[in-house]
Amino acid sequence: MQKSVKLQDGLMKDNLAYNIFFTLKVSTKALIKNFLDNAEKLLKDYYRDKKFNIRTEESVCQIRHRFSSGGINGGNFVYMPTSYYILKEIMDYLKLNKDDIFVDLGCGKGRAMFVASMQGVKKVIGVEIEEGLVKSANENAGNFRFNKSALFILHKDVIDLDLSEGTVFFMFNPFGEDLFSKVIENIKASLKINPRGIRIVYYVPVYREILNRQDWLVPDGNLLNNRVLVWRNVKN
Ligand SMILES: C[S@@+](CC[C@H](N)C(=O)[O-])C[C@H]1O[C@@H](n2cnc3c(N)ncnc32)[C@H](O)[C@@H]1O
Repeated sequence: MQKSVKLQDGLMKDNLAYNIFFTLKVSTKALIKNFLDNAEKLLKDYYRDKKFNIRTEESVCQIRHRFSSGGINGGNFVYMPTSYYILKEIMDYLKLNKDDIFVDLGCGKGRAMFVASMQGVKKVIGVEIEEGLVKSANENAGNFRFNKSALFILHKDVIDLDLSEGTVFFMFNPFGEDLFSKVIENIKASLKINPRGIRIVYYVPVYREILNRQDWLVPDGNLLNNRVLVWRNVKN
């Protein structure tokens, strides 16, 4: 009797040690895989920039700033580009045509604009509040090799932007809740000035509920497992 209790205790301890080891092994494997996957995406983005002859990656200084600042004028962070593989998913979904006007609200160094410009749309407009980023976007526009559309980079606060031309509005989580609401109101108001079909593409859709509440918008698409959501307006 005494012997079998001891044996069971030993097995329990062995099991516990094995369970801890197994959990550690699985979580370490997942962590390493995640790290390597992210490193691969960054490397691919770096080489895509090289092919396009542009520089759109985040600098070390910008990464530091992103973690230390709350943003400017209701903006979320200073800068972080959308990964090229996400932009490809978005472009494959949107199927832009020669009548489209693509607007990147908070365009940073212009990566999303350049990818949109390759689709041969009527116009690509980017608005950016940070002077240094506007300078980089303009340098990139001068160097970019594959442009098929008219490109406009505007140094402005999004709140002052005339939105009455755009047919596709792209946002990579650029604004806080209040500013985001105002921008959506401004898009709605622009439809009175120029009635047209529009789509709103929202990557990292933190304030998606604001869009879900709008009776003039309907959900249009869900890409990459809710990471990118698309709405379109209900035409009257
Ligand atoms: C996450 S980055 C996205 C960059 C780019 N759209 C992309 O996807 O590669 C968001 C950008 O929004 C800009 N931004 C924030 N507040 C803004 C405002 N009020 N007006 C214009 N741009 C703003 C930031 O400076 C930043 O470059």
